[in-house]
Amino acid sequence: MRRKKLFQSERTMEYDYIVSKEQPLSFVAEAFQKTLVNIEYVNVDGNLKVLQFTSSLAGAGKTTFVSNLAYLIGKKGKKVVIVDLDLRKPKINRIFKAPNENGLTDYLAGRVKYEELVQFSESLHTHFIVAGERTTAVVNVLETQKLKDLIARLRQEFDYVLVDAPPVIAVSDALYIARITDAVIFVVAQNEAKRSIINDALKTLKQNDVNVIGTVFTQVDSRGNEMYAYTYGYEYGYNSTGDDKLDQSIKK
Ligand SMILES: Nc1ncnc2c1ncn2[C@@H]1O[C@H](COP(=O)(O)OP(=O)(O)OP(=O)(O)O)[C@@H](O)[C@H]1O
Ligand SMILES: [Mg+2]
Repeated sequence: MRRKKLFQSERTMEYDYIVSKEQPLSFVAEAFQKTLVNIEYVNVDGNLKVLQFTSSLAGAGKTTFVSNLAYLIGKKGKKVVIVDLDLRKPKINRIFKAPNENGLTDYLAGRVKYEELVQFSESLHTHFIVAGERTTAVVNVLETQKLKDLIARLRQEFDYVLVDAPPVIAVSDALYIARITDAVIFVVAQNEAKRSIINDALKTLKQNDVNVIGTVFTQVDSRGNEMYAYTYGYEYGYNSTGDDKLDQSIKK
């Protein structure tokens, strides 16, 4: 499977709003837009519908990225839903300014119906599913047949199903989630990028046969006050030499 480094955005800021909507001409909004183009390019035949976003460590920018991406896809008239499967640290409710109620765990426990579960934000052109009531049995939840059935239904009803997932290093959730998604996009915060940790996470994904289709670099260091962003167009393989190439790119 072809994998690409999809893009780099810019330095750390608080993005608890959709920057692609609020500041469409900013560097970071432009970078998100470019990344969508790259994802569409990798997925040119449309086979990859259920996309999972993970990282090595927490705070890489997954939730920010996935919600901007959903907004951009929705704005183009495509039907898109975000599913918050980061059940230990749910945040999609905050992005959509919705209570963390009628969520996924509530649906799986039979407390809410599908119609109540899938919410719609008209202003963001996006459907979304919040995580729901906290559970200590996260892995059990991720393994239920009902979750698989839900993803299958969403797959039929939407053009894109974007899954916000936890990081790889601390817990195994992302690996369980990868069993029900078509492909993984790996998010790296450039400013905290420790090569060994990134490579460990990628190795773990590889060992578990996870289909990683690309890497997104976020929060690129600033030079003075200037923010910048760039896109890498080249591809790298995910094999014995793939990690080295990743190393080199991070050193830049
Ligand atoms: N592209 C970006 N450029 C600059 N800052 C960003 C970018 N993306 C996210 N941030 C900021 O980084 C912080 C973490 O972002 P976010 O919550 O999206 O990460 P996450 O990977 O979902 O974290 P967690 O693992 O805790 O779920 C937030 O303060 C956010 O505003
Ligand atoms: Mg998150």
